[in-house]
Amino acid sequence: MAKISLKDYDEANIDKSLLVIGVNEDNLDADYLKDLSLKIKIDIQSLMHSCPLGIKKFGKSLLTLLPVDNNKIISVLLLGLGKTRELDVDKIRQLGGILSLRARELNYSQVNVTDFYGSSSLANFESLLEGMLLSLYEFNKFKNDPEKNSKYYDEYDVTLLNDKGHQQEYEKIIEKTLKVVESVFYARDLSNSPPNVVNPEQLAKAALSLVDDGDGKLKVTVLDKNQLDDLGLNGIIAVGKGSNSPPKLIIMEYKNGDPKEKPILLVGKGVTFDTGGISIKPGDKMDEMKFDKSGGCTVIGIMKAVNLLDIPGNIVGIVPAVENMPSSSSYRPGDIIKMYNGKTVEVLNTDAEGRIILADALSYGVKNYSPKCIIDFATLTGACIIALGTNVAGIMGNSDDLISKIVQLSTNTGEKIWQLPLYNEFFELIKSNVANIKNIGGRTGGTITAAAFLSHFVDDTPWAHMDIAGTAWTQDGTIDKSYNPRGSTGFGVRTIIKLLEQKTL
Ligand code: BES
Ligand code: ZN
Ligand code: ZN
Repeated sequence: MAKISLKDYDEANIDKSLLVIGVNEDNLDADYLKDLSLKIKIDIQSLMHSCPLGIKKFGKSLLTLLPVDNNKIISVLLLGLGKTRELDVDKIRQLGGILSLRARELNYSQVNVTDFYGSSSLANFESLLEGMLLSLYEFNKFKNDPEKNSKYYDEYDVTLLNDKGHQQEYEKIIEKTLKVVESVFYARDLSNSPPNVVNPEQLAKAALSLVDDGDGKLKVTVLDKNQLDDLGLNGIIAVGKGSNSPPKLIIMEYKNGDPKEKPILLVGKGVTFDTGGISIKPGDKMDEMKFDKSGGCTVIGIMKAVNLLDIPGNIVGIVPAVENMPSSSSYRPGDIIKMYNGKTVEVLNTDAEGRIILADALSYGVKNYSPKCIIDFATLTGACIIALGTNVAGIMGNSDDLISKIVQLSTNTGEKIWQLPLYNEFFELIKSNVANIKNIGGRTGGTITAAAFLSHFVDDTPWAHMDIAGTAWTQDGTIDKSYNPRGSTGFGVRTIIKLLEQKTL
């Protein structure tokens, strides 16, 4: 794990470390250099002033080797901040990521960061730290090459040269952020894992292992195929039928509140590979369907964080885990499934499988936990990518209050979310001639008809559904953000942790 400390600038060590200085386009004086020694301050200030405009642009940087006393050389990274008034918390998060990536590229594991981002705002402090750490994520455990298997993150040693006003708050944020980042990394690792390794059983094992983190507040139960059958979770059974890896229902119960208090329910789509089944997908980019378990990984990541952070309250996480495969035992277009809550579903496309497994997981959660609210996460529809692109997730549901809380928080976390309207008209589109509802609603409004389908399984519980098809991993159209390296992003984990911390639900 990275080491983060709040210390003064250690001049004895300057030749080994990288000193990061922000340079802005407005040529504002940098009063955050006041804690550095006078000799160094003078040199750095003249450097800042003579720095070319190109380096002052947001996200640009320049390594400068500066001779100082005693024949020492100090390594200074000039980091472009752009226009100071345009800086916001997400840009600061990105700058944190950019500086870490530059430090890694230049092979400095010790980094001193001056307070160019305004640490007196604790939100700025937190987002800089998040960016610095999240950007260093690497998924290389399948590369049989020790060179590439870098341990940079574990050796990363950061000194933050902040003002001295908020020491205790800073310490708390550091401790918290390291845990949040660990949880995002856990979600990313699972979601990035190949489908021949992380099948439903392995996903369940990953959830079971969370129990080791804590002190008994988290209990994890995994229902196997026979149990699903006995309970009538026929939607999950149907989708999982075509695979040799049997389906599982992963149930994570976190109890850290009044036992009488109703829990918050989180549900995530855990399709460990989505071929489309009998309605098979075209081959192009089918490999990306290993990411179809990302919603489930988000829930597992959140449960890990909640447990590590000891967040007060009762929270239940449920992940239906299946592999959607074509075979002689697969479910078919035309099948009618009697779902866990008794409603019948006509299957018209086996590639619209996510809503079927989520439906059972949602009604199982509603029936057995009477939750006070529900949030679900799913890479549910390609239509969401058409509607909102690959930088914004969709959100829908029956509670504008819950939705607006999530959307509001997302404006600071950088996990952009936009609400789509779940109007009554969309419910007409999924009525079936032979069953209560059908699992597709035609070519139009595909993201919203999918949400309309889910809403049949939540009763009146306040509920928000997040379609993360475009944002769960970096794909065509994803704008580069330093803190989201290629592959799974762990989308949703940070925003929902903020929500759960706030205790406003
Ligand atoms: N997992 C896919 C949705 C998806 C596609 C996510 C591409 C991310 C990228 C989902 O199971 C699916 O295939 N949905 C179908 C629904 C359709 C058959 C109504 C889709 O979006 O095409
Ligand atoms: Zn599908
Ligand atoms: Zn899918």
